[in-house]
Amino acid sequence: MAGKIPPEFIDNLLSRVDVVDVINQRVPLQRAGSEYKACCPFHDEKTPSFTVSPAKQFYHCFGCGAHGSAIGFLMEYDRLSFPEAVEELATSVGLELPREIAFESGPDNRPLYEILERAANWFASQLREHPTAPEAAHYLKERGLSGEVAATFRIGYAPPGWSNLLNSLGKTPQERELLQRTGLLSEGRGKQYDRFRNRIIFPIRDSRGRVVGFGGRILGDDTPKYLNSPETPVFHKGRELYGLYEARQALKKIPRMLVVEGYMDVVALAQFGIRNVVATLGTATTADHLEKLFRITPEVVFCFDGDRAGRDAAWKALETALPLLRDSRQARFLFLPEGEDPDTQVRSEGAEAFAQRVEQAMPLSDFLFDKLAGEVDMTTLDGRARLVSLAQPHLERLPQGVFREMMEARLADLSGTKRRQNRPMNRRRNRLPQHQPGTLKPLHRAIALLLQYPRLAQLENLPGGWETLDGQGVTILRQLLETLQHNPHFTTAILLEHWQDDTIRPHLGKLAATPLMVFDDEAEQFTGCLEKLAAEARQKQVRAIGNKLRPSDMTEEEKEQLRRLYSGKE
Ligand code: UTP
Ligand code: MN
Repeated sequence: MAGKIPPEFIDNLLSRVDVVDVINQRVPLQRAGSEYKACCPFHDEKTPSFTVSPAKQFYHCFGCGAHGSAIGFLMEYDRLSFPEAVEELATSVGLELPREIAFESGPDNRPLYEILERAANWFASQLREHPTAPEAAHYLKERGLSGEVAATFRIGYAPPGWSNLLNSLGKTPQERELLQRTGLLSEGRGKQYDRFRNRIIFPIRDSRGRVVGFGGRILGDDTPKYLNSPETPVFHKGRELYGLYEARQALKKIPRMLVVEGYMDVVALAQFGIRNVVATLGTATTADHLEKLFRITPEVVFCFDGDRAGRDAAWKALETALPLLRDSRQARFLFLPEGEDPDTQVRSEGAEAFAQRVEQAMPLSDFLFDKLAGEVDMTTLDGRARLVSLAQPHLERLPQGVFREMMEARLADLSGTKRRQNRPMNRRRNRLPQHQPGTLKPLHRAIALLLQYPRLAQLENLPGGWETLDGQGVTILRQLLETLQHNPHFTTAILLEHWQDDTIRPHLGKLAATPLMVFDDEAEQFTGCLEKLAAEARQKQVRAIGNKLRPSDMTEEEKEQLRRLYSGKE
């Protein structure tokens, strides 16, 4: 990593995101008083012990001890690194990333993004200005696209000719090199020329909105019909999805995302007001694509042609999706009538009828069992046994959970076999030793109280004198108080993320999650803890000075100090 993420950025980020929203998008939460509950996504359980506190901006599982902030949750649940989780959250609330992570590793790709951005603007300008622009504009109009949607997707035009872009943007050797490296130029017989010619241009943006590549559709019937940017340092087809950025810009929440095959399908559906759509870029859907999607939506609906090729593509998508289908995630399949794609379909029947189709899309379970049952003779015992052996390997790729259990039950039903009882009776519970309320030492209790009730730091006349005690805990308590006095708005979650020291953070996390059984006297308790600590500090000092035994060995200063200590005024 080029640099650390500034702590102020994390503070700012955590004060903008709501941990309840973040978690609820992935694990549906139920309100329980001032908190929220769910079955813990990190261990197997039947009754909910996973709790999310909006006030603390913190989650905690009383069963397995998992706990943390929104950042921690994304790291655990989406299996992201710390910078990735920060990036994910920042994008979701529209915070611009600090340079430290925006360009965290490897070579500086900014010049590549800059030239891609300039190229996108240039293609868009050609759609207005080039002498042959009316032809392109006519084509788009024929296909039913309004200027508004064209602008939203930054649709452009690459005029016919070999060097329009080259001459406009490639004036210096450096620029030509950048155009080459971003795949905008091709090279043949030692000469560079425009890759995209006589095409409608679809800029492809990454999830942060940066242009990373282009797709181009030929005007007319030439081949290839579509041409995409090649893989470049900033463009990877297996990771990017066309329309993802635009969908997230258009929609606050995305309860369901459609995955289609073509650029035109995305923009045509957008033209009809259907904005929760992305397209893969001339490749099959990858696990990376799906991970990306499931981070922002619980449900993915794949749209394919109803023909053979469409069904094959759908089956491939199913196989890719299986290992990713944790309980809160769902995949379904929409098969369109033969010869139709979402573009032609929505144009012929309108948005409402299309939405109906989506509503009725086939659940993954039906698709899987229908297809496999079609391959065997279900009227015979042998056939049904064969269904089990065909389906089992697929079901085994599902993550453990309710969905998998339901699929196994369904297979048992279909095949007429008894379900294997393979669940161990004594499931090992990752139970953490829980502190009994009241058994925490005053120092730990003070820290726990402060973490859980950060406003305690604002109390006036807090007992002093304890600061002279040795040890890391005292240092932490002091730092916590200072941090909170300077940043009164900090929540529990911000406080924890504020601690960059990875050896301390887990301990703080545990203290923040320890049930304290405090009702309305937390101020009193906190003051009490500090007083106990102060008393302890006094005793230590008395002992230290007292070790010198005879007053004649003490300095005047020490004698005075001793008097003050005995009178309890220190
Ligand atoms: P289709 O051939 O289904 O095209 O390709 P389409 O989306 O219906 O396009 P229109 O309606 O004729 O304009 C679907 C997707 O497959 C990729 C592109 O990503 C395209 O959007 N593709 C297709 C290519 O990459 N190259 C091709 O030559 C064709
Ligand atoms: Mn089409």
